[in-house]
Parts: sequence; structure tokens; C-alpha cells
Amino acid sequence: MLSHVEVPTYASIPYHVVAGPDGSLWFTEQEGNKIGQIHLPAAMAEAPTPARAVEQAPGADLATFSPVGAILFDHPDPSIFTVLTSPSDTPGTANLDFAIFPPRWLVAQDTFRPPWFHRNIASEFMGLVHGQYDAKDEGFVPGGCSIHNCMTGDGPDAATFDKASSADLSKPDVITDTMAFMFETRCVLRPTAQALQLPQLQPDYYRCWQDLKKNFTPGTP
Ligand SMILES: [Fe+2]
Repeated sequence: MLSHVEVPTYASIPYHVVAGPDGSLWFTEQEGNKIGQIHLPAAMAEAPTPARAVEQAPGADLATFSPVGAILFDHPDPSIFTVLTSPSDTPGTANLDFAIFPPRWLVAQDTFRPPWFHRNIASEFMGLVHGQYDAKDEGFVPGGCSIHNCMTGDGPDAATFDKASSADLSKPDVITDTMAFMFETRCVLRPTAQALQLPQLQPDYYRCWQDLKKNFTPGTP
């Protein structure tokens, strides 16, 4: 008989499942940093390991969080950088993900390393704590933040696109001294009226993409 058991922690990557002397199945969660127990036929329990308990404590140092990324090709979108998540009843559409972009190595080859210009179903609120965000060469300063709501185009600016497009992919891109964060949600983000009147607003923000060249013609196979 086969049973399907939902692991409560999204993208926790359970592995090393073993049968325990108590008749349960036990495993560790590589990304969830938890120990899982399946009471047969289909009940599930999790307990945080001490390391995860520290990481989730208020005021935890984000510099101790290790992102997970591709080591051959392509760019897994921000779920690999997710520190905390509030899953919804629909897989792949979290209520709220908290993700960070800390110092790291990008080693993928035969691809475009920064997240490309795209639209998300999720809405994104992003900020820079310190350093420089690797997908924005200019105009995104520490303390600054951006909102890209559902299906709004976003991605690297033209200067970053040009630099990344001509990068030597045989060598890793070692990103140091940076800490950006993102709240990603299936809800639409609505700035307050007060926020929309702030002098720090950048009405010309869209210009950072104006120099991107069209690389396809609609209707052409
Ligand atoms: Fe995005």
C-alpha cells in the first residue's frame, strides 16, 4: 500500500529515511534543519534541530544562513534563498517567503547568472541592507527598497545585463560584502498614501531597463 505524506516544511528536502525500532520512519531535512517522523500509515511530526532553533530566533544573524544554488546551469528562483516561509494551501504559492541574497559564489555555466528580466506571479518587496545587489549596478542603495507587484516586469538593469552577458563563465562569480532581502507573497502589496508621497520615491525607476535591447520578435518562431 502506498501513502502520501505532506511534509509540513516547504522545500525541506527530506533524506536518509530509515525505519526506527518504534515502527516509525525517521529522516532528516537537509534544508528544513528538522528531524521528521512518520507514524505509519500516514501521520507526520517534525522537531527543529538546535541549529535551526537558533537561526529562527528573533534577531538571528542572517550572515549565518547559507543559500543553496545551482552548481551546473540555470538559476533556481528565490526559493533557494528562503530563510522562512509561510506556506499556503496551494503548493508553490506561499503566503509569505522571507528570502535573502547574502555573499555567495555563482558557478553555473552556459547560462545567465543573475535572475533575468521577468514577471512573477508573486509580489516582491525587496531591500538592500548593505553592499551592492548583484542584479542592480546603480540606483539601489543600502536602505533603499523596491516593490514589484504581481506580473510587474523586473530584473537586472541594462548595465548588469551587459556585464553578465559578457562574463567569463569558466570562473566563479564570487559575491562579497552584500546583504539584500526580499519578502515574496501571493498577495498584492499596496503602499500607504503616506509612502506614495515620500520625496525618496523614484518616478524614473523604470529607466534602468530602458537600454535593454529587444532580443526577440513577437510572432517569429
Ligand atoms: Fe522577480
